[in-house]
Amino acid sequence: MKKILKYLAIVLIVALVVIQFIKRPEKISEPVTDNDIIGALNVQPEIANLLKTACYDCHSNQPRYPWYSEIAPFSWWIGEHIEHGRDELNFSDWATFSKRKRDHKLEEVVEEVEEGHMPLPKYTWMHSDARLSDEQIKMLKDWVTSERAKIAAEN
Ligand code: HEC
Repeated sequence: MKKILKYLAIVLIVALVVIQFIKRPEKISEPVTDNDIIGALNVQPEIANLLKTACYDCHSNQPRYPWYSEIAPFSWWIGEHIEHGRDELNFSDWATFSKRKRDHKLEEVVEEVEEGHMPLPKYTWMHSDARLSDEQIKMLKDWVTSERAKIAAEN
C-alpha cells in the first residue's frame, strides 16, 4: 500500500512538471480607451472601484494576473474565465454596444450579482476583496437603476 502511494505521488509530480511545458494562454493587457464604461458613463468612484476590484479581472481588457497564473493548471482556468467572461460582457467595449445591449447587460449585472453568481464564487474564494457586501450590492443596484433610466431617456 505504501509503495503504491509513493508511486502515485511520483506520477503526480511528474505530470505537474510536464504540464508546465504546455503553452499558456496569452495574457491580455490592452490600454484603456474611451469606450470603457467607467470613462464613458463618468462612473462615480465607489462604483468604479467596485467594478475594477470585483469584475474587471474577467470582464475587461485589463485583467490583473495573480502569481499563480504562471502555473498550470491555474493558468488554464484563469485564461478560460477571462476569455469566457469577456465574450459575454466586456466593460472595456461599453460605448460600442447598442442601446438595447447596454440596457440588457445592466439588467443582467444586477441579476447575476444578486443571485450570487458574480463575481464567480471560485474567484472570491481567492480574492476576498472582491466579495460584495449587501451595502455594495445595494449601491450597484441604485447605480444600475439610474443608468437604465438614462438609457430609456435616450432617443
Ligand atoms: C473570475 C472571473 C469573473 C469575475 C471576477 C466576474 N465574472 Fe462575470 N462572468 C464570468 C464568466 C466566465 C461568465 C460567463 C459564463 C457564466 O455566465 O458563468 C460571466 C458572465 C457574466 C454576466 C452574464 C453576461 C450575459 O450576457 O449573460 C454578467 C452580467 C456578469 N458576468 C457580470 C459580472 C459582474 C457585475 C462582476 C463583478 C461584480 C463579474 N461578472 C465578475 C467571469 C467572471
